[in-house]
Amino acid sequence: MTTTIFVPRDAAALAVGADRVAAAISREIEMRGVDARVVRNGSRGLLWLEPMVEVRTEHGRIAYGPVSPGDVPGLFAAGFLEGGAHPLCHGRTRDIPFLRNQTRLTFARCGVTDPLSLDDFRAYSGLKGLEKALTMSPGEIVAAVAESGLRGRGGAGFPTGIKWKTVLDAPGATKYIVCNADEGDSGTFSDRMVMEGDPFMLIEGMIIAGMATGATKGYVYTRSEYPHAIETMRRAITIAREANLLGPSILGSGRAFDMEVREGAGAYVCGEETSLLNSLEGKRGIVRAKPPLPALQGLFGCPTVVNNVISLASVPVILDRGPAFYKDFGVGRSHGTIPIQLAGNVKHGGLYETAFGLSLGEIVNDIGGGTLSGRPVKAVQVGGPLGAYFPPSLFDTIFDYEAFAARDGLIGHAGIVVFDDTVDMLKQARFAMEFCAIESCGKCTPCRIGSTRGVETVDRIAAGVEPEQSKALLADLCNTMKFGSLCALGGFTPYPVMSALKHFPEDFAPAPIKEAAE
Ligand SMILES: Cc1cc2nc3c(=O)[nH]c(=O)nc-3n(C[C@H](O)[C@H](O)[C@H](O)COP(=O)(O)O)c2cc1C
Ligand code: SF4
Repeated sequence: MTTTIFVPRDAAALAVGADRVAAAISREIEMRGVDARVVRNGSRGLLWLEPMVEVRTEHGRIAYGPVSPGDVPGLFAAGFLEGGAHPLCHGRTRDIPFLRNQTRLTFARCGVTDPLSLDDFRAYSGLKGLEKALTMSPGEIVAAVAESGLRGRGGAGFPTGIKWKTVLDAPGATKYIVCNADEGDSGTFSDRMVMEGDPFMLIEGMIIAGMATGATKGYVYTRSEYPHAIETMRRAITIAREANLLGPSILGSGRAFDMEVREGAGAYVCGEETSLLNSLEGKRGIVRAKPPLPALQGLFGCPTVVNNVISLASVPVILDRGPAFYKDFGVGRSHGTIPIQLAGNVKHGGLYETAFGLSLGEIVNDIGGGTLSGRPVKAVQVGGPLGAYFPPSLFDTIFDYEAFAARDGLIGHAGIVVFDDTVDMLKQARFAMEFCAIESCGKCTPCRIGSTRGVETVDRIAAGVEPEQSKALLADLCNTMKFGSLCALGGFTPYPVMSALKHFPEDFAPAPIKEAAE
């Protein structure tokens, strides 16, 4: 029987040589004349083990990693086609604690299947949500999504069912589904992993969104820095079209939906939904004032659902297993699962899908294994560049939208960036202001001007110039930005700045001013 060897084609694996490893394995197969084939799968999300190669054996899939091309002859010699022992062997993939302890609903297939095989997709529960949706009315689909408690995973945590109902109820012959795949937050990669590792799931979620709201056209808006995701999505859309999954009659149902991928030019603010819509329309990526809501007047002035990749990708499982099944996971008003992304100075960086409700300490120390450097954790930034810095003294914070908000933080797109005790938090505060100054769309004054004044003020503190007055000025400026900005770029930049100042005051102690030389 032909043995299957899996080598990820995910960008994170490619970055550390997965293509070269796949080529080395193919060469070795040929040289040895063994009956084996290489399948390029998505990533399982254990990024510190990439390229993680798996071999399908009678005992299940056995993982080896991180594999370099030079390791390949030794792996064959050690009998890795039968799951043989080797220093790089981690045993059965599903028994690796990082994977075993997860609740994989959205990422159930990612890393398991060939991302571009529709047969694989079907074999692992793909299209079940859509088939269910085809038996339901638009109102019933919207009600199911509302009942599941799903909240937008792009950052704001807005209830997806309410958004869909607004679009369903909005008058208009033309409506759109826009998938926000800009994924600009630092330390986040779950959207990319879906697009590269399980693109049909996103397509399925978008078709269901279209059926629920009356939209017949969808766009995936993503960043030019994601070439592999773009290519995989485009190929998957073509395959889906050929299989009648997209087009004038979805699976012969008589209902139409089609979609395409659009590439952004790389502005953080183009992840903000109204700026994204402008960019999609071919205009400059500048924020629009709300109202009108995009749900009522969005793309080209038509009712539009704008949802994050993970929000849309969560819908098929909700319809397949039922809203009550999904809602049962989580805590408080944070229902379901969330793909946490661990990055920065962390031992076990990667993607970990779990129900809401773990503590931040469990995530960073138990799952992430603490810092890669082995030094103590000093701070973690949760929720991207606009998220607050949390010190270990707040590690009892529960991963839940409300619990983070209560501590002046946010979950955002669930990215966590870890820093050890060598980080200078004043520099991080300066970086937040500088980032805002560079990425500001310029539409409103608190953000456009405030961020530049913020950089200057942090510099004054660093230089020891009137430090107490400068700190008070910084707090005042942050207050103005928080309440006076039009969108969350200017409005949330104060979170990293003020959390750094509040939790790490020692890093803001005035530097001694040098005596002037005589
Ligand atoms: C500056 C800025 C950048 C944003 N970037 C993203 C992004 O990259 N991806 C995303 O899904 N949402 C992003 N958002 C949030 C979107 O505006 C919007 O809330 C989201 O796409 C709605 O989808 P959801 O309800 O499924 O989360 C950003 C918001 C702001 C203010
Ligand atoms: S807060 Fe900044 S990014 Fe947002 S609208 Fe104002 S200037 Fe533009």
